[in-house]
Amino acid sequence: MNSALNNEIQKVAEVAGYLWQKGWAERNGGNITVNITAFVDDEMRALSALSEPLQIGTTLPNLKGCYFYCKGTGKRMRDLARWPMQNGSIIRILDDCASYVIIADEPVMPTSELPSHLSIHDYLIASGSTYKASLHTHPIELVAMSHNPAFLGKDVLTRLLWSMIPETLAFAPLGLGIVPYTLPGSVDLANATLEQIKDYDVVLWEKHGTVAVGTDIMDAFDQTDVLNKAATIYLRAKSMGFNPEGMTDEAMKEIQDVFHLPTCRK
Ligand code: 13P
Ligand code: ZN
Repeated sequence: MNSALNNEIQKVAEVAGYLWQKGWAERNGGNITVNITAFVDDEMRALSALSEPLQIGTTLPNLKGCYFYCKGTGKRMRDLARWPMQNGSIIRILDDCASYVIIADEPVMPTSELPSHLSIHDYLIASGSTYKASLHTHPIELVAMSHNPAFLGKDVLTRLLWSMIPETLAFAPLGLGIVPYTLPGSVDLANATLEQIKDYDVVLWEKHGTVAVGTDIMDAFDQTDVLNKAATIYLRAKSMGFNPEGMTDEAMKEIQDVFHLPTCRK
C-alpha cells in the first residue's frame, strides 16, 4: 500500500480508537467509509477480485470505478483501531454502478450501512464536493436527545446545541439534520439520509446515531464530537436541576458574522 493511502487508513484507525474511548462504539456499533479513489495506484487497480460481485441495493451513477475503504460488518471499532485491514476492506464499484467487489486485503464484507454511505459519496461527487469521508456512530447524548419528539422539528436541536457553547456554531456551522426512525441498513434510511446531507454535515438518526461527512475521517469525527459536546453540556445543566439559558440569538448572529460562517455547503 502506498504511503498516501496508508496515511488515510491510519487516520481511520485513530478515529476508531476515539469512538471506542468515547463509549460511542459498543460491540460492532458504527461504521466508516472513505473514498480512496485518489490514492489508488496502478498496483491496487491491478488487484483481482476477492469476492463475487455484490449488490449495493441501489444504483449510484457517479461511483463507477471508485474505490472505498469500508469498515467490515459486525467488526468492532476497538479492533479496527489496531488492525484496520483485518476489520475493514477495500472495494471497487463495478461498471453497472449497482454492484462492487472486494479487492483487499481480505474478503471482509462491508458494513450493513453501505447503502447510506455510498449514496452519500455518490451525492458528494455529483455536487463537486471535496469531502471524502463518512462516519456513522452512536454518540450517547445526541441519541438520548433524539428520544424527545420536541427536539426533532427542523433546526430545533441545531439552535439549542449552537447556543450551548460558541465553538459549536463555529465548528458545526451547518447544524444538525434529522432523520425520523428508519430501519438500520435499509435503502429507505439511505434515501432519507441523503436528503438531509444535502443541507447538513451531520445528520441525527432518531433513536440510533449520527452520520457525518467531512474532508477526511478526522473532520467528520470532529463535527460529530463538537455537536455531542454541546448535547452533553445541555444534559449536565439539566441534571443540575435547571434549564440552561443558552446564548442569545444576537450573540450567535455576532459569531456568524464575525467569523464569516457558511450557512450552506459550498
Ligand atoms: P455494521 O457492523 O454492519 O457496520 O453495523 C453497525 C451499525 O451501527 C449499524 O447501524
Ligand atoms: Zn448504527
